[in-house]
Amino acid sequence: MNKQIGKKLGLRLVLGITGGVAAYKAAELLRLLVKAGIDVQVVMTKSACQFITPLTMQALSGKPVFTSMWDASIANGMPHIELSRRADAILIAPASADFIAKLVYGRADDLLSTLCLARDCALLVAPAMNKQMWENPATQRNVLQLKADGINIFGPGSGEQACGEVGLGRMLEAADLLSLVTTHFTPKLLAGKHVLITAGATLEMIDPVRAITNLSSGKMGFSLAEAARDMGATVTLIRGASALPNPSGINTIEALSADAMYQLVMQNIAPKNSAAQDIFISVAAVADYSPKLIHDHKIKKNEQTITLELKQNKDILSEVVTLPNAPFCVGFAAESEHLIQHAEQKRLRKKLPLIVANLVVDGMGGDENLVTLIDDLGRHPLPKADKKIIAHEILHHVYRLISR
Ligand SMILES: Cc1cc2nc3c(=O)[nH]c(=O)nc-3n(C[C@H](O)[C@H](O)[C@H](O)COP(=O)(O)O)c2cc1C
Repeated sequence: MNKQIGKKLGLRLVLGITGGVAAYKAAELLRLLVKAGIDVQVVMTKSACQFITPLTMQALSGKPVFTSMWDASIANGMPHIELSRRADAILIAPASADFIAKLVYGRADDLLSTLCLARDCALLVAPAMNKQMWENPATQRNVLQLKADGINIFGPGSGEQACGEVGLGRMLEAADLLSLVTTHFTPKLLAGKHVLITAGATLEMIDPVRAITNLSSGKMGFSLAEAARDMGATVTLIRGASALPNPSGINTIEALSADAMYQLVMQNIAPKNSAAQDIFISVAAVADYSPKLIHDHKIKKNEQTITLELKQNKDILSEVVTLPNAPFCVGFAAESEHLIQHAEQKRLRKKLPLIVANLVVDGMGGDENLVTLIDDLGRHPLPKADKKIIAHEILHHVYRLISR
């Protein structure tokens, strides 16, 4: 990853860790924040140090970890002000019930609580505690008060807890917290817009155990769905075959075959009970052909050669573009040669306002991509970057085109 979303947003965070079992998850969270290019300064309470060592967090952040108000290593000797002055936000993860109570009362008896009180930036709080502690009216009152004070509460989630109970109180997973942080700071350029995206490979069954598929991982389409969500859009993702987990905050529907994907796109392009899509981005690698006959039983190895007869599938993007009141349509061209020439031909043939051209060797399967955007104004090559960054660049371009 050479240029990451956190770096692009220029984010600087103080990651505050308090005393709870979920402190071990803060190590993974820190790793993901740093990997996303976010500049992170870790501050731990005394109790947090009982659960995970500052040394681990120092190794992961590459910076000294602060645990005491009386640390003289900060130039003006005032870490309680200095550390958050440089930050866009303080993220408390995990936030103990005790620390939440301290925030409510504006207590300032250790470095982290003093930093929170003296801050001039956003405060993001990810509670983590046993379900009884979470359900206790005192905690519920405190959380309501924090919300009323404009503090963002992330979670908690539900599930199995360290104490063996099951219920609300688990800290959100590290990946979910990362996406909540980046979402918080992404300008909401697509607020009010409805965006439909297809992603991943299709799977055309031959018999009950065999299928024709392709090497699309779904990473580009999922990154676009997440970026559109972060930019404030209401997103529907129609996913084909992909190993990726469903992203949070996105209406995700599975469609494995090209035919199922066609049906779902048509149902969702202008649904009866909700708003029609404003933008359609066709990223899925949809099979052009599928077996004419799907065998009910597994084909036996009786013959030296067998012949599969294939029929052409519907071209989903072409069908959407020609709909009355069609949304703004974006196509993808994955080519193995003559990239720009083939992509330009595809754009004109399908009458698309925008196409994203990428070579199969640059984009298929990996985390990064090298793309050229082609529209009525010409070609706009983007530097090679992580697919999450490319996704934001594409959507910024779409935003510019639809705002013209
Ligand atoms: C083994 C153990 C696990 C704990 N787990 C949690 C927890 O998950 N959530 C929580 O709010 N408090 C938990 N506590 C209690 C806090 O550690 C305690 O309230 C402490 O004072 C919090 O200090 P701090 O908020 O300054 O970090 C736990 C305590 C122990 C001994």
